[in-house]
This record gives sequence, structure tokens and C-alpha cells, in this order.
Amino acid sequence: MKTILITGATSGIGEALCQDYQKLGHKIIACGRNTEKLARLSTYQNIDCIEVDVCVQQQVNEKLSDLGELDMVILNAGSCEYIDDAKNFDGNLFARVINTNLIAMGYCLEALLPQICNGGQLALVGSSASFLPFSRAQAYGASKAGVAYLARTLALDLKKHHIDVSLISPGFVKTPLTDKNDFKMPMQISAQQAAEEIINGLNKRQFDIHFPKKFTLILKTLALLPDSWWQAISARSLQK
Ligand SMILES: NC(=O)c1ccc[n+]([C@@H]2O[C@H](COP(=O)([O-])OP(=O)(O)OC[C@H]3O[C@@H](n4cnc5c(N)ncnc54)[C@H](OP(=O)(O)O)[C@@H]3O)[C@@H](O)[C@H]2O)c1
Repeated sequence: MKTILITGATSGIGEALCQDYQKLGHKIIACGRNTEKLARLSTYQNIDCIEVDVCVQQQVNEKLSDLGELDMVILNAGSCEYIDDAKNFDGNLFARVINTNLIAMGYCLEALLPQICNGGQLALVGSSASFLPFSRAQAYGASKAGVAYLARTLALDLKKHHIDVSLISPGFVKTPLTDKNDFKMPMQISAQQAAEEIINGLNKRQFDIHFPKKFTLILKTLALLPDSWWQAISARSLQK
């Protein structure tokens, strides 16, 4: 039985991961802000819940610094907002998204890394949105590009501490986060399918966990093109 801490466990991908790992017999520490959801999760055997806003460093320090030995930490909490008018750039929106998706990860890392055991695992949830620049995704994409860099560098420096790092880059997953989107989301999968992909990848201790493969491999291939090509493709699709 492993002890697995999951942030953003009250909804979508995090909730599905929480339930799957619980069914597999592990002990889960589920983190989030939604008190009703946390109360419901805590009725399951082997799920302990912690109400914490990951953007508030004092709360993170007080609530997450002294949990004991952890086998795996999955930093999944995140939000998505779009910049609708790049010319009238919304700096507050930009700060909000970067704070939740990236800066808060730093707070969690400070509190949690010392507790990850020798041979343990750390997983950061990024996004396939960071593979290429997408229209309106200045804030979300930049935050997830930051997460990807953070994961790559942590993988280098945590090796000597025998902690394996994984970067999780989902394509479109049906959750409350994407239910707000007003555009087509090709090859969208369920949160349940996403959780299965993540658990599979983490079992194999893979660094680069991305899915659904058909979608993410297309993006990874397009990302090899010169920027000017991608800009031309994007401009054409935005005109349609
Ligand atoms: N859905 C997709 O298509 C997709 C694709 C690529 C990447 N992702 C990434 O996957 C992760 C999970 O997304 P999701 O789609 O499952 O979204 P979701 O259903 O909206 O869940 C987001 C989770 O993050 C938590 N959270 C947000 N802000 C928080 C804060 N300040 N403090 C504590 N918890 C906070 C929420 O908890 P409370 O509600 O309890 O505050 C919730 O549990 C995110 O990092 C997202 O960027 C999602």
C-alpha cells in the first residue's frame, strides 16, 4: 500500500485518480478547496482529505509540511482562463492562471518534496497545450510551458535523491475545466480514461506521459515545424 498525495482531487482528472488509486488499495491524501467534495471523498476507506488553497503559501506550509513519508505526490490542481483580447492584455488574469498552475506548484514542492521517500515519485500535471502556441492561450500555455520546464529540471536534480519525476501532458479531457470551452475539442477523452493513462505511465515510471497518443503525437510532430509554418496554419484555421 502506497501513500499518494493528489492536489486538485475534488474534480475531474484528480478525482478520477483518487478513486482509482483508492480502489487499487492505496492510501490517498486528497487535497482541494471544495468542502462538500472533500467531505464526500473522506467517506471512502483510506482517503484522508485536506482543505487547502494551493495559492496561499501559508496554508500550504501549515497543512502539507508535516504529513509523514509519501510514496507519490501528484501536483494536479489547476485552472484555465483565456486571453480574449491580446491587444488589451488582462494582466490580472495572466497572474491568476500563472499563480494557480505554476507558482502554487513551487509552494507545494517546498512543503512536500522533503517528505517524498527514497524511491518515491513526483508527477506534475502540465498540458499538451504547451507543445505549440494556441490562440488565446497566452496565460494557460505559458503556465504549462513553465510546468514542463520545471518537471524537466526536477528530473535532473532529484535523480540523486532517488525520486522519479513524471510530466503529465493530457490532450482534451472532459471535466468541469473543459466544459467551459466554447470551441471544438478533438479526440476528447473521459477523466476515467485519463486516470487510466496516468496510472499506467506512473506504474512504468515514465517521464513523459501524454495522451491520447493520436492527438498528442500530431501536436508533437507539428511542434517540429518552423514557427512561421505553424503561424500560417493557425492564421488559416482562425479565418474559417
Ligand atoms: N481537462 C483537460 O482537458 C486538461 C488538459 C490538459 C491539462 N489539464 C490539467 O489537468 C489538471 C486537472 O484539470 P481538470 O480538467 O481535472 O480540472 P477541474 O475538473 O476543474 O479540476 C481542477 C482541480 O484543481 C483544484 N484547484 C484549482 N485551483 C485550486 C487552488 N487554488 N487550490 C487548491 N485546489 C485548486 C480544484 O479544486 P477545488 O475545486 O476544490 O478548488 C479541482 O480539484 C489541471 O492542472 C489542468 O490544467 C486538463
